[in-house]
Amino acid sequence: MCNSCGNEFVKWSGQCPACHEWNTLVEVGNFTKLSKAKSRSARPAIYSVTPREAIKNDSGKSFNTNIVELDRVLGTGLTPGGVYLIAGQPGIGKSTLLTQLAITLNTPLLYICSEENVGQVATRINRLTTKDTRHINLLNTSSTEDILKATNSLKPELVIVDSIQSIATEGNPTTAGSPSQIRDCASLLIQTAKESNIPMIIVGHVTKEGTIAGPKLLEHMVDTVLDLTGDRQHELRLLRGIKNRFGPTDETGIFRMTNGGLEEIADPSKFLLEGRLKSTPGSVLALVMEGTRPMTAEIQALVVESAIPVPRRIAKGINTNRLQLICAILTKHLKLPLGTKDVFVNITGGLTVNEPGVDLAIALAIISSVKDKALPDSSICFGELGLLGEIRSVSFQEKRLKEAKKLGYKHIYNPSTHPHLKKIIKNK
Ligand code: TYD
Ligand code: MG
Repeated sequence: MCNSCGNEFVKWSGQCPACHEWNTLVEVGNFTKLSKAKSRSARPAIYSVTPREAIKNDSGKSFNTNIVELDRVLGTGLTPGGVYLIAGQPGIGKSTLLTQLAITLNTPLLYICSEENVGQVATRINRLTTKDTRHINLLNTSSTEDILKATNSLKPELVIVDSIQSIATEGNPTTAGSPSQIRDCASLLIQTAKESNIPMIIVGHVTKEGTIAGPKLLEHMVDTVLDLTGDRQHELRLLRGIKNRFGPTDETGIFRMTNGGLEEIADPSKFLLEGRLKSTPGSVLALVMEGTRPMTAEIQALVVESAIPVPRRIAKGINTNRLQLICAILTKHLKLPLGTKDVFVNITGGLTVNEPGVDLAIALAIISSVKDKALPDSSICFGELGLLGEIRSVSFQEKRLKEAKKLGYKHIYNPSTHPHLKKIIKNK
């Protein structure tokens, strides 16, 4: 069996014929066990088709989680029988978020802690609340069969499995966390969720590269994939929907990690601009979109004479390639002498922005640092930079403009007022 893709073969080879990974084939002696697992998950053949009218939507109603930012990302709350995967790096706050969810839901639920023992989870619950938490049933097990048995006998309103990487099914001889084990456990959990109409939330780890650990298949199998991201040195945590069979995927939940758990941030702009120095060269405000929400972020740039032959371009919160491109555009179209200078760019508050609307702010921050001149007070900008130095329109332009006006900014540099970089600089 291949440890990477879970395919089975009748002979060993150094490279998996299916996924082309090296040294992943392991010998699986117990064939009877394997085939037993197969036959158990096989469903009886159904040959009847169902007319649309005959399908009653009696699977029960979705229910809200009472955590506003989580509901925003889910769109419709938790749907009966829905299977949700929450992925994120170790220590980012997955268990914290789910413990808080368990506390606020106040309906009978089953919390499977296969990574931690019951005592650790109970300590976390006590740390997060002083309220009555008798509705939370904790089960410490790494056996998928035990989870299914407990689910079927308790009939809770929600099952939380923390995490898929640390559970195993008897039918699969590989160790917990192997791709084939993840695949088999996930399919058993999903089958039970659909049959019993109980929603399940599964925690998944991410690899060093940032992708969800285990077979890609896992993401296809579940109904919803949520990604909890953030910089562990900062408080900010973003919950983004990657896939959602029940609602939108363009919403983002914004939280901060505090001593009392994850706190929802209602006004992200205020949070991100805390402690900002006004009228300082190198600092520019940008209106960025996080999902469908506009918010204000501070972009800082520092440009200094380089002491090394190949000057550095260092970015935090934005892509380094993007920074290199913007430096090249500024050198070519504004004759900015960046060739011998180190350029550092940072977005404050631990925010990471991947949308092109932040380009103009990065460019203006660099120009402002080079010229040692601050932008006028009460100015903000958004727009994508083209290779010719033109400022291109971005998504949600009206929404950003409206937000900027609402916040009272007087100078709003944007693609419709300033179609080219040269136009902004000439005005200075
Ligand atoms: P955790 O939820 O255990 O992370 P994950 O399950 O994603 O691995 O969160 C771990 C971090 O969160 C840990 O470094 C401690 C911190 N934390 C707080 O800051 N406040 C809290 O109230 C809790 C419960 C955890
Ligand atoms: Mg955890």
